[in-house]
Amino acid sequence: MPRRPSHLMANFTLPQLPYAYDALEPHIDATTMQIHHTKHHQAYTDGLNKALGSLDAKFQSMDAVDILKNIDTVPENARGAVNFHGGGYNNHTLFWNNMKKGGGGEPSGELADAIKKAFGSFADFKTKFQTDSVAIQGSGWGWLVKNASGGVQFITMPNQTSPWTRWKAEKLTPLLGLDVWEHSYYLKYQNRRADYVTAWWNVVNWDEVAKRFKA
Ligand SMILES: [Fe+2]
Repeated sequence: MPRRPSHLMANFTLPQLPYAYDALEPHIDATTMQIHHTKHHQAYTDGLNKALGSLDAKFQSMDAVDILKNIDTVPENARGAVNFHGGGYNNHTLFWNNMKKGGGGEPSGELADAIKKAFGSFADFKTKFQTDSVAIQGSGWGWLVKNASGGVQFITMPNQTSPWTRWKAEKLTPLLGLDVWEHSYYLKYQNRRADYVTAWWNVVNWDEVAKRFKA
């Protein structure tokens, strides 16, 4: 996560992708990745800085996850913008790291056990995740999250609202997120969101998800 000087106003910067734009071909095409990263993720980054700019000094030095966990403390006139852009900033950072070249397959170890316990089997988990993500009306994300009891569950979130905003009430930690905004698939898949999700399983970085589950 990029650092920023504490004496200045919020200065979040666009995190670098952990791979080349064409690394996820043919499942996710290079042009989509480039625009998604340099235009959309950049816009959330800029929007977050702008939204935080008018707030108290204490918000300028918080990291994005802390801001999202404490979204209820953000003054009401800026809360919507901070929720949207802060969520967009953090969601996309997670998303890039949730994928890798040559990903896919199935998780192992404790994460695999937790998925089996929550969903019955890995196949049942995939069906639930895919069906409910495809069914999101408009824009949003499907998430595998860790819950307060240390297990996992699936949730959907609208627009860019982060699962971290449910930390105080439910102790949810995002593990694996799937962006189903049209900007994440439209160039290659047009209206075929289900085809995008089917392809996306081939690039999931289960090692990263397992690391987040254990942390
Ligand atoms: Fe996106």
